[in-house]
Amino acid sequence: MRPDIARLIKQAKKVLRQNWRDQFTVPSPNLYPHQWNWDAGFMAIGYAHFHPRRAQQELNHLFAAQWRNGMLPQIVFNPEALGGYFPEPDFWQTERSANHPSGFLTSGITMPPLHALAAWKIYRHSPNPQQTREWLRDLFPRLLKMHRYFYRERDPQREGLVYIRHPWESGIDNAPAWDAPLRHIPVDSETLPAYQRKDVGQDVPASQRPTNRDYDRYVYLVALFRRLKYHEGNLYRECPFLIQDPLTNSLLNRSNEELIRLARLLGEDSGEIREWYQQTSRALRTKLWHADHGAFDCYDLRNRDFIHTQIASAFMPLICGAPTTEQANRIYQSLESNSFCSMHNDHCFSIPNYDLKGKELDTRNYWRGPVWINTNWLLMQGLKRYGFHQKARSVRRDIIELVSRWGFREYFDPYRGTGYGSQHFSWTAALFIATVMEK
Ligand code: GLC
Repeated sequence: MRPDIARLIKQAKKVLRQNWRDQFTVPSPNLYPHQWNWDAGFMAIGYAHFHPRRAQQELNHLFAAQWRNGMLPQIVFNPEALGGYFPEPDFWQTERSANHPSGFLTSGITMPPLHALAAWKIYRHSPNPQQTREWLRDLFPRLLKMHRYFYRERDPQREGLVYIRHPWESGIDNAPAWDAPLRHIPVDSETLPAYQRKDVGQDVPASQRPTNRDYDRYVYLVALFRRLKYHEGNLYRECPFLIQDPLTNSLLNRSNEELIRLARLLGEDSGEIREWYQQTSRALRTKLWHADHGAFDCYDLRNRDFIHTQIASAFMPLICGAPTTEQANRIYQSLESNSFCSMHNDHCFSIPNYDLKGKELDTRNYWRGPVWINTNWLLMQGLKRYGFHQKARSVRRDIIELVSRWGFREYFDPYRGTGYGSQHFSWTAALFIATVMEK
């Protein structure tokens, strides 16, 4: 291994060591002092390469806080670190739901489910397959319960596509794709609960984060959830933000594939999972595919409209094998255009989260333009799957270049490379390790 890469791996491990809190990893020391759902999946994927015990502990801690109905919460709060983040348990009031888990403080929403994928990676890299199989025996029913929750509660019309009901559930909080659906939410500042943001300040300038207007809508939705006691049926009827997005559905579907593998390994039945896989693949390929744009769109269930805003999630179906060869070739063309930084363009880094020619581009603001290492890692898996190896190698090069020049930052400028947001960001470190250690 090149000495500079070996040194970076050492630093990445140090970031993860410093962000470890006894049973789980915080995404970053100051900004995010609790456990986050999909972050934990990314950490586990990184740990699988060098610390299998931590990889398992990370998922154990998250799944211990699974809701009774199967929902895996977006945040599991650390009771010792309360006071530094908003919104915290006093605001979520999840105890209003009969489904909330006892003994844990959590938020009342979920996130893109990539945990079966993480579990499979842990098994694949395990130095002790027998122990790992035993551990998986315990995890498998919980993974299955989570997938059942998605298909039962988030796909009431049985289309094979699940919806998200809050932008924080998307993992890409303020992506421009959510602007239109959020605009439709009538917020009355008189009745909105009072709140104070904790995500902007000394570490991160407000110009790099969601606007106050967006935050009002995030808070409005949480207030609605708690009023409806997190009852999924009522939320489906009343929530003004209901989106079927290709990112969540593709990760769910890739996790279906890994669940089928796990079922085979453990001698469990996989009939139900196979049906989900077929149905979701078909629905992605047909309903969310927009032939005119050559892209996978989001669908806004509430306003009954497709969202054509080009964000990197549009490419995510590659990861679960849903696109036809023709669809894959079309999205590859978009990925290779100047909108998403073609690999022959030396003036940008791939893969920006939003169209570089888009009206709303803001190269320093969170999910409105910057490059994120988790998106890059996921898309690299999809590119390899479809045989786009040269592009996958160029994404890999960019991950290494960004981290070597700017450190383990939360996100990076797609033109200058400058790192923004939190320093010592855990998934950047974990996925850096996975990127360089994967064949
Ligand atoms: C932000 C990101 C989300 C991430 C969380 C913790 O909310 O948008 O994807 O999980 O921070 O890192």
